[in-house]
Amino acid sequence: MKTIWILVLVVFYNGISLNGVATNVPARPPFVSIGALLSFNSTIGKVAKVAIQAAVDDVNSDPSILGGTKLRIAMSADKSGFLGIIEALKFMETDTVAIVGPQSSVTAHAISFVANELQIPLLSYSSTDPALSSPQFPFFVMTARNDLYQMAAIAEIVDYYGWKEVIAIFGDDDYGRNGIAALGDKLAERRCKISFKAPLTPAATREEITDLLIKVALTESRILVVHTFSSWGPVVFSVAQYLGMMGPGYVWITTNWLSTLLETDSPLPAGTLDDIQGVLTLRMYTPDSELKRKFVSRWSTLTSGTTAYGSNPMGLSTYGLYAYDTVWLLAHAINAFFDQGGNISFSNDSRLAALRGGSLHLDALNIFNGGNLLRQNILQVNMTGVTGKVKFNPDGNLIHPAYDIINVIGNGIRRIGYWSNYSGLSVVPPETLYSRPPNRSSSSQKLHGVIWPGQTAQKPRGWVFPENGRHLRIAVPSRVSYCEFVSQVPGTDKFAGYCIDVFTAAINLLPYAVPYKLIPYGDGVTNPSCTELVQLITAGVSVLKQKLYRFSKVQWFFVVYSVSSFI
Ligand SMILES: *[C@@H]1O[C@H](CO)[C@@H](O)[C@H](O)[C@H]1NC(C)=O
Ligand SMILES: *[C@@H]1O[C@H](CO)[C@@H](O)[C@H](O)[C@H]1NC(C)=O
Ligand SMILES: *[C@@H]1O[C@H](CO)[C@@H](O)[C@H](O)[C@H]1NC(C)=O
Ligand SMILES: *[C@@H]1O[C@H](CO)[C@@H](O)[C@H](O)[C@H]1NC(C)=O
Ligand SMILES: *[C@@H]1O[C@H](CO)[C@@H](O)[C@H](O)[C@H]1NC(C)=O
Ligand SMILES: *[C@@H]1O[C@H](CO)[C@@H](O)[C@H](O)[C@H]1NC(C)=O
Repeated sequence: MKTIWILVLVVFYNGISLNGVATNVPARPPFVSIGALLSFNSTIGKVAKVAIQAAVDDVNSDPSILGGTKLRIAMSADKSGFLGIIEALKFMETDTVAIVGPQSSVTAHAISFVANELQIPLLSYSSTDPALSSPQFPFFVMTARNDLYQMAAIAEIVDYYGWKEVIAIFGDDDYGRNGIAALGDKLAERRCKISFKAPLTPAATREEITDLLIKVALTESRILVVHTFSSWGPVVFSVAQYLGMMGPGYVWITTNWLSTLLETDSPLPAGTLDDIQGVLTLRMYTPDSELKRKFVSRWSTLTSGTTAYGSNPMGLSTYGLYAYDTVWLLAHAINAFFDQGGNISFSNDSRLAALRGGSLHLDALNIFNGGNLLRQNILQVNMTGVTGKVKFNPDGNLIHPAYDIINVIGNGIRRIGYWSNYSGLSVVPPETLYSRPPNRSSSSQKLHGVIWPGQTAQKPRGWVFPENGRHLRIAVPSRVSYCEFVSQVPGTDKFAGYCIDVFTAAINLLPYAVPYKLIPYGDGVTNPSCTELVQLITAGVSVLKQKLYRFSKVQWFFVVYSVSSFI
């Protein structure tokens, strides 16, 4: 009976494909050209190069993926700025159907306009600037985690520990600025904020970093978020160590550039490791799987002969996993594209043809006729790769964004928990949560203990009295009787007494800093009239004229005032 059914099915199936769509599908070409734009010498690029080549080889060695068609990849250097754009344009003169990359968000912004015009999808596993996911760039597809989620994770960590204000240190380019803008939005959702933005020029020198960190040290917040590149991020920590900013009281949180460095160039030189003790960093989360384990164990073979620095082997970073999956994703999309009757053809851009005659030969740039169809197929891919499930949300982001939260301790790293877009902070892997309803109640948010900078397990309070802020000026009656309550210490500008003790004890309990200055009021010979003192405030007399911008401060004036008028 079974055999008959199968026979019937086979006949039925053939019938469809003979009379249906399949007959109209043109023969597949032997090759499809794709491009890759990488900074070969960068922490991300050197890993991605190996991973992309491995993926192309794997796809080509399995004829079932593309029905016999092979991928032909050309790799080109993603040089920063203008030259990066030119490298990308060079691909667009050839019959390239898609580009893996560019690696940097700065180049991505520039060539996304060209990609829109020429309909060549860009699939980037490392340009994760949130602004790139805007509908302004339909041909830009982010095949790793949008930094938006990384910033949401940082905001939740800050909120979890009860801090209110952070300082953002970042490279002043598209990647840095847009990432920090997203951090500001995510903090605002939790009633926290960036109290000081500290931008660095993209090629900051040690002197510039020192000047900036000195300014940072003078401010109130002790929560520092560093969003830079692996290339000069460590210099920030080296300077911070030098300035004594890696000690108790400080909290340093970095985006995933630091975890990438730790994964790729591990073990780091002892000096660099000393500088980053107690730092929290994020890493894109990829669930454990058979596929991932196999790829990780292949890595040493793939990289034999290459080294990171010195004689250390080059480690596999999460970007390597995403780069590998990006090529597979593209292969699946190209397969679906052919299945739907797509063919590889190009046409001249009539608008560029109008420019013919110049020596730039802009008219050599071709429009990929099937670009839109390929792009749709990319966004509809549903596969499982080394990074887990690969599938896009309707908003164009990969599903299930999640991060590992890592504490740098000793020679290595310790995972203190996870963040997922689904359920926030947890100590169990995110995929175990997806079967339960999302739970963001504060009681369900959990992380393991952290060893903070200065080798302390005690959570830093997150702020100090700033050296540079405006001071709240508090008038203190310069009394000559009942000096136990309040009196000026003779020969100094300090005050002592019960009222002052209560005041300072209370001000230390506040979750933010209140810099203040006590100003004596009275002639020091007779007790001043407190009624007069209050009248002076309402009259706005200059010595007391000060906006009382935080209510608590107003209250404290009255406590001092009432205790002293009581006696
Ligand atoms: C790659 O980087 C190393 C140091 O990080 C440098 O010595 C070398 O010249 C660089 N190579 C290229 C081609 O830029
Ligand atoms: C390729 O597809 C276009 C329409 O998308 C069609 O006009 C053209 O004839 C096709 N070329 C080949 C060789 O099938
Ligand atoms: C586009 O125009 C150039 C000349 O400017 C020509 O050589 C090329 O074959 C044209 N390409 C297509 C696809 O028509
Ligand atoms: C994606 O693939 C999985 C199996 O790998 C399947 O269960 C799921 O329904 C698919 N989703 C869509 C939208 O096709
Ligand atoms: C992240 O969570 C928000 C709200 O919970 C949801 O709207 C969004 O689609 C999620 N993003 C992804 C990529 O799952
Ligand atoms: C969320 O988690 C907390 C603590 O684990 C639990 O008490 C609460 O019932 C959960 N809420 C939901 C809706 O599952």
